Amino acid sequence: MTLLATTRVELDAATADRAPTAVVMTMGALHDGHAELMREARRRLPADGRVIVTDFVNPTQFGAGEDFDRYPRTLDADIAICERNGVDVVFAPAVAEVYGGSELGITVDPGPRGDILEGATRPGHFSGVLTVVAKLLHMTRPDIALFGEKDYQQLVLIRDMVRALDFRVEVIGVPTVREADGLAMSSRNRYLSDTARAQAAAVPRALAAGQQAGGLGPAAVMDAAREVLESGGMQIDYVAVTDHELGEAPGRGTGRLVVAVYVDGTRLIDNAPVELGGEA
Ligand code: PAJ
Repeated sequence: MTLLATTRVELDAATADRAPTAVVMTMGALHDGHAELMREARRRLPADGRVIVTDFVNPTQFGAGEDFDRYPRTLDADIAICERNGVDVVFAPAVAEVYGGSELGITVDPGPRGDILEGATRPGHFSGVLTVVAKLLHMTRPDIALFGEKDYQQLVLIRDMVRALDFRVEVIGVPTVREADGLAMSSRNRYLSDTARAQAAAVPRALAAGQQAGGLGPAAVMDAAREVLESGGMQIDYVAVTDHELGEAPGRGTGRLVVAVYVDGTRLIDNAPVELGGEA
């Protein structure tokens, strides 16, 4: 039985016994990628453990002109998905419940890695993300917190914040769950028309092409990925190869290919590991 809590008081009442706890933070409009985080949370907990899903469309991580107002809100369907995946508590607070305490401008600064890639196109986005993640960690008091590799930069920055600010939580990254044609599952996929949805399959194909070119080094990886995206008629925001911490790509070893594109006005991001340098 999944319990719905909408206030901090209800959340505290539902978690008063302090069982070993996992949190999966979401903005709702849940799909099987989110569900995989819930299942992995359950696998990682002891039998008496508790899985909390937070379901909150966080206004502070959306820029002016972004999709905060039209972001899909599907709480009843979300609760049903949580129910099916063994979630104990869904915490779905209103904006005032989360931000009502008024932080008077106090936020979490993501540092320089918050300004690259996603952060370059979406100024302030990662400050909004880290601030709400910090607040939700304090509210839910988990032992483990699970995040998807789908949002790779977000995962790296959350890990860094937890380390830098001494949060007592273990951050666990979960591999991306994909549709049959390889497209990463995303709440924003429901914005896509049938034509745009078909076009979007070029994103995972571009990642695969980049991986294939790994032996030739980072520049070749980016070229290969760009070529597939461009021939798929996509507007590219960025294509980059980094190390696993978003620093400069290593000459040899495992890097990360990260891409962001617009398909018919909808922004899609994806990423994959890439083996660089090949055999000597
Ligand atoms: P949201 O986009 O709803 O994603 C919630 C979590 O699900 C994130 O950790 C995300 O990486 C993960 N996720 C999304 N699609 C996935 C997929 N296809 N496979 C695996 N995991 C996937 O990310 C956010 O919300 C917000 O920024 C949040 C962290 C909740 C802060 O507001």
